[in-house]
Amino acid sequence: MPMPTDTASAQTITLRRPDDWHVHLRDGAMLAAVVPWTARQFARAIVMPNLSLPVTTAEMASAYRERILAALPPGAAFTPLMTCYLTDATDPTGLRAGFAEGVFTAAKLYPAHATTNAAQGVTDVALIRPALKAMEEIGMPLLVHGEVTDPAVDVFDREAVFIERVMTGLVRDYPGLKIVFEHITTADAVGFVDGCGPLVAATITPQHLHINRNAMFAGGLRPHAYCLPVAKREVHRLALRSAATSGSPKYFLGTDSAPHARGAKEADCGCAGIFNAPYALESYAAVFEEEGALGLLEGFASEHGPRFYGLPLNEGQIVLERGDNLVPAELDAGQTRIVPFHAGQTLGWRVREAR
Ligand code: DOR
Ligand code: ZN
Repeated sequence: MPMPTDTASAQTITLRRPDDWHVHLRDGAMLAAVVPWTARQFARAIVMPNLSLPVTTAEMASAYRERILAALPPGAAFTPLMTCYLTDATDPTGLRAGFAEGVFTAAKLYPAHATTNAAQGVTDVALIRPALKAMEEIGMPLLVHGEVTDPAVDVFDREAVFIERVMTGLVRDYPGLKIVFEHITTADAVGFVDGCGPLVAATITPQHLHINRNAMFAGGLRPHAYCLPVAKREVHRLALRSAATSGSPKYFLGTDSAPHARGAKEADCGCAGIFNAPYALESYAAVFEEEGALGLLEGFASEHGPRFYGLPLNEGQIVLERGDNLVPAELDAGQTRIVPFHAGQTLGWRVREAR
């Protein structure tokens, strides 16, 4: 897609319509409240399967897909791409059938207890060998929440230790498996992904490009800056910004937008997750502009993901225009309210139209 050559002074940016390669859409009233935000910007999204009753079968994924489609605003052109939640008991035959039928696009590996609704996740990757073998054979991507859950490991080291203890072995033992290292947060992960072949890629969220771990403690405890994997030191944020704006096809957009009601975050034991869907593209555009790389935003947002997944590029376009975009302090979500990422801040781009 042609970009203005002088992107630094451009007043509008027209991009091929982007996709979100990692999103939590939830269910019920929350789904109805949040899916319009994602559908407004993105043509497709990889939908995470960590509902309170995890999406572990093709039947469940089909039914969830129907609920998502039913919750879309009239006329929305949005395709949810469904994922299978892997457990110790995942049946490789069901995975193969779900992928062959086009119900599953990928499968998600949550280490057991790593995050929200991950209690039924995988306790040891050795137990899902048949599933991983099948996925390698049929070209079904494995999406990885890359954190160890060993309580002896410092929370800020869980991704780096996961690389040593799990990722390295996965890449070695399944050389033909497509792997997406989801929502990477460290320079270690960037180094790992860069050092692997083309079958290993990563998504990067807006929040990990904007904030470091100090944001959680700025003048007090800030629950709306808390997600998992947790933001790390500044050196890691800078490594992520370099990776995202490098033009490498290994890195693509995945918001990890993870809505929780305000009260569920502002609590004794607040939930992990940042709701960034409403201003996602504007948030990424700010980063690419700050890095002098607006010309590389389209690859990251709209091209690298589909190429990795082997899906067609979108035909539509989205137009961003320069201008103050004040993010509200909170948004209505049915009977509840959600605090969005960048609440109270003014972003410098806004979505004018998607077509
Ligand atoms: O912060 C997060 N929230 N990280 C995850 O891995 C899950 C997500 C959620 O579902 O709330
Ligand atoms: Zn997620």
